Amino acid sequence: MLKDLLAQRVNPDVPSALSGLFPKDDDPRALSFAAGSPREDLFPVAAMQAAFTTAIAENGAHLFQYQTAQGNPALRAKLAARIGKWGQVTTTADQVVLTNGGQQAIELVAKALLNVGDEVAVEVPTYIGALAAFDLYQPTYHAVPLQADGLDLNRLEDTLKQHPRIKLLYTVPDYHNPTGITMSVTKRKQLVDLANRYDFIILEDSPYRDLGYTHDPLPAIKHFDTEGRVVFVSSLSKILMPGLRTGWLVAEGDLLTAILRTRQASDLEANNVVHAAINAYLDTHDLDAHVAALRANYRDQCAALVRALTAYFPDEVAFTQPNGGFFDWVTLPPEVDTADLLTRAAIPQAHVSYVPGTNFYPARNVHNGLRLCFTGLTPDEIDLGMQRLGTVIKAAVREVRPVV
Ligand SMILES: Cc1ncc(COP(=O)(O)O)c(C=O)c1O
Repeated sequence: MLKDLLAQRVNPDVPSALSGLFPKDDDPRALSFAAGSPREDLFPVAAMQAAFTTAIAENGAHLFQYQTAQGNPALRAKLAARIGKWGQVTTTADQVVLTNGGQQAIELVAKALLNVGDEVAVEVPTYIGALAAFDLYQPTYHAVPLQADGLDLNRLEDTLKQHPRIKLLYTVPDYHNPTGITMSVTKRKQLVDLANRYDFIILEDSPYRDLGYTHDPLPAIKHFDTEGRVVFVSSLSKILMPGLRTGWLVAEGDLLTAILRTRQASDLEANNVVHAAINAYLDTHDLDAHVAALRANYRDQCAALVRALTAYFPDEVAFTQPNGGFFDWVTLPPEVDTADLLTRAAIPQAHVSYVPGTNFYPARNVHNGLRLCFTGLTPDEIDLGMQRLGTVIKAAVREVRPVV
């Protein structure tokens, strides 16, 4: 069997955390709350097309030559200034690396840090793509629960006391995927204090930080970094277009050197043509104005979802109250398996799809959560979808908790 030749890190008997993300339903009534995709009708396609033309006209053949591992210096300078303004991170273009999406930045950090069996702490539930990246390096996971104001730091400290060799903590502090939760400013500072005390690296992954619907972005965790322990990662996927495959990270010292070394082994360097085009786009367009337009749209969709969940879901079901980002997290009674509910009732009866919660846990041991993404549907579609899903959820809850 050729399968036997595969590396253990891609063990085909254990499905990738990213598999089964987008359940299929070909029915014309289908409404998908599954994929975390931004709205295509809000993509600035014509402006980006013009920016590609400008970048190629201005740079000629040299644009298509090999360049540097860190990527386009002018774009790096703009991103450094942006995170300075909106995240209060003091940094320069020298500490920024352009990557192939935020996903590659996560994978490069994992590759630079993790030996087989190394201990990693993650908040749970957590971003599936991060687990997929970490899984390749076969770490030992420690799951730390989330609270309404972010990571439970008491539980994290208990875990650190028991497992002092934890070397990496992964967190999505702003409008978290999959729960929509945002970490308080107090906790951001306390988390850095813990990292200094217990000697670990924080991977701060923040692709949704600009998409707050009630307030401006909070200072990044990296703002509080005193020892170069925080690697900040973000992306243009959610605020511009994911097909540009442009993410970026901020790191310093030995960490930055190690990350650049892994990047060269992976793909030598960033996609220079795309980055020159993005830089040209940013020279003539106000990204903050574009983001404000996105927020105005997504805010209504988010409000429609929370309204519909309140109206149609039974009292036994809990859900988060996001005020930014793309997602809401729904918790059913522990006896209800949301993967089973999806294929047995949600898709065939309600024609509504979501992402079942199991894959958001490193041990795949929690089965009663589900993620809803509200960005792909209109407020009316969201209302209709939740009405239909509410009906099948009520039936599932009544099966395990009959009304006496
Ligand atoms: C929390 C989080 N991090 C990283 C990514 C990766 O996005 P990209 O590689 O498109 O930047 C995503 C995408 O959904 C995400 O939700």
